[in-house]
Amino acid sequence: MKSVLGVLLFIVTFVAVFCDVANRNVTLTPMPDCDKYKLECDIAKDKGFVVVFATAYAKGDSLLYAFSSIGMPTIALVRVTGDNASMHFNWTKLINESSLEEAITIEDHTKVAYRMGLAFPRLLEYNDEDDQADLKHMNSKPNNASYWKIRDFSDFNWSLDYGSQTKNAFILTATSEQGSLIDTNSTGNWSISFKFTVQGGSGRDPELPSLKFGANQTQFDFVISNFTPTYASSRFAVETVLVSQSSSEMNVDTSKSIDDEYSPGVFQMINWLSNPSEQQSTGFVQWKPVCYTTSDRSRSTATKVKDYELLDLTEQENITRYLNSSIVLSIFGADLYNEKVVTSRATNISFGLSQDRFYDNTNYTVWSAAIGFGTPPQDAISMTVIVTIGAGLGLPVIILILGGVYTCVKKRRSKQTEYEPITGTVDRTELVIN
Ligand SMILES: *[C@@H]1O[C@H](CO)[C@@H](O)[C@H](O)[C@H]1NC(C)=O
Ligand SMILES: *[C@@H]1O[C@H](CO)[C@@H](O)[C@H](O)[C@H]1NC(C)=O
Ligand SMILES: *[C@@H]1O[C@H](CO)[C@@H](O)[C@H](O)[C@H]1NC(C)=O
Ligand SMILES: *[C@@H]1O[C@H](CO)[C@@H](O)[C@H](O)[C@H]1NC(C)=O
Ligand SMILES: *[C@@H]1O[C@H](CO)[C@@H](O)[C@H](O)[C@H]1NC(C)=O
Ligand SMILES: *[C@@H]1O[C@H](CO)[C@@H](O)[C@H](O)[C@H]1NC(C)=O
Ligand SMILES: *[C@@H]1O[C@H](CO)[C@@H](O)[C@H](O)[C@H]1NC(C)=O
Ligand SMILES: *[C@@H]1O[C@H](CO)[C@@H](O)[C@H](O)[C@H]1NC(C)=O
Ligand SMILES: *[C@@H]1O[C@H](CO)[C@@H](O)[C@H](O)[C@H]1NC(C)=O
Ligand SMILES: *[C@@H]1O[C@H](CO)[C@@H](O)[C@H](O)[C@H]1NC(C)=O
Ligand SMILES: *[C@@H]1O[C@H](CO)[C@@H](O)[C@H](O)[C@H]1NC(C)=O
Ligand SMILES: *[C@@H]1O[C@H](CO)[C@@H](O)[C@H](O)[C@H]1NC(C)=O
Repeated sequence: MKSVLGVLLFIVTFVAVFCDVANRNVTLTPMPDCDKYKLECDIAKDKGFVVVFATAYAKGDSLLYAFSSIGMPTIALVRVTGDNASMHFNWTKLINESSLEEAITIEDHTKVAYRMGLAFPRLLEYNDEDDQADLKHMNSKPNNASYWKIRDFSDFNWSLDYGSQTKNAFILTATSEQGSLIDTNSTGNWSISFKFTVQGGSGRDPELPSLKFGANQTQFDFVISNFTPTYASSRFAVETVLVSQSSSEMNVDTSKSIDDEYSPGVFQMINWLSNPSEQQSTGFVQWKPVCYTTSDRSRSTATKVKDYELLDLTEQENITRYLNSSIVLSIFGADLYNEKVVTSRATNISFGLSQDRFYDNTNYTVWSAAIGFGTPPQDAISMTVIVTIGAGLGLPVIILILGGVYTCVKKRRSKQTEYEPITGTVDRTELVIN
């Protein structure tokens, strides 16, 4: 029975996957509209401002993305209905330090159906002397330089690596820190980077944790490579803010699976849902609670990714101040702080597990996640697991039946020569039960 259910489940998922084709035509434009704002754009380049515009086009219903390093690394996603959708980037406004409002506008006869933004204000480094790998535990420590080194991402010099990457991908990298307080030169080539891959179809990331993806999302890999740790027992975390055009409470949902076929040793999927009750028409951030401590990812170099309680930004005055320096202000404008229209929540994502010997063991961490619109992809139970379960449940049943048939046949044959015991009928009843 269970194996039949398994096969049915498989068929249903199979059909579901192939019905939601939604292929999108992806185009990437680095430094958009710079030809119209030559002077301002040169100033922006000198400041290390990077902007990449991407469209994931489908007829009558497209996703527009803006990626930027201005203020902090930010991904903005806008779903528009109608064709010829585009964003206009006003560089005069993008370089205006007093406000980013209206710096990005949606062009043409399109209707904005949904907006969301994901921003990374700060990189947290902490001295995990008790080896707990837990930011909650760190709350008991003094909030001073012996325990914390907190950097604004805006303090890094960002640059764009475009073109040398795989299709529809690019990297935002920082390899230097402005007014560096620590000797970031001592390990040589350090870098902190975000690799973004805009998806236009469905598939599975070839790299662990092999996240499944659809045409409505962008994958990102956050890498801290060769960074000189401040403490011997340093660990890192990244402050993360999700802003969504929806007015209900966000939720971080953890789903468990019995299947770790695609990411060995990982049995969980985490979905940060911007509106859990209307997933089809709002956005999400998805990841598995795993990161890797070497660039060639494997189960043996995996360690844990932890998230924490969502914080309401209205109570976090400073993050609000930071958010004004991100292009989320350009996308949302005055709505950004209107709780009836827009919800913003923040959390930290920390990397590491007690006894994994700290960041300094390899001086490398890579975390992969995705941001997207609609229902987050789910791992279907893989064929291997179905076959295994099927075999596990089915084989004993087949053996019992065959055994029963064999016994019955044998009994019938011996019946001709021997005296049939009274229990003979009992055997036949058992066979029926089997
Ligand atoms: C995708 O966009 C490119 C460039 O705009 C265009 O040449 C191509 O025909 C488009 N493909 C589809 C399937 O729309
Ligand atoms: C980083 O950017 C600042 C300007 O924002 C510049 O003054 C500094 O020289 C840059 N540092 C490096 C190492 O490129
Ligand atoms: C979209 O662009 C094409 C060519 O640029 C143009 O022919 C068409 O009229 C435009 N459609 C709308 C709705 O603006
Ligand atoms: C860009 O912003 C500047 C300064 O606010 C404004 O003067 C200009 O008209 C804007 N450009 C466009 C095309 O809207
Ligand atoms: C910068 O933005 C502020 C606030 O929107 C505005 O008052 C000011 O004129 C802008 N500066 C420039 C140079 O456009
Ligand atoms: C941090 O606080 C602890 C305990 O109050 C103290 O021992 C330590 O010296 C402080 N470190 C710095 C750098 O202020
Ligand atoms: C940083 O490292 C490079 C390569 O080892 C070296 O040439 C350079 O002088 C160093 N810079 C500083 C400020 O130590
Ligand atoms: C940094 O990396 C480049 C390219 O991989 C290499 O040529 C260079 O020697 C490295 N420098 C240091 C100081 O490790
Ligand atoms: C907010 O920022 C100010 C200035 O940087 C700082 O003094 C204050 O402690 C911060 N507040 C919180 C709650 O972090
Ligand atoms: C953030 O931007 C909004 C909209 O432009 C503005 O009303 C608010 O005063 C700004 N907040 C801070 C702390 O700068
Ligand atoms: C990581 O960096 C620290 C500080 O530069 C160094 O002491 C340590 O040996 C490095 N670890 C590895 C595995 O290279
Ligand atoms: C992708 O987005 C389109 C609308 O742009 C929506 O109709 C579709 O359901 C979404 N796909 C998923 C898997 O949510």
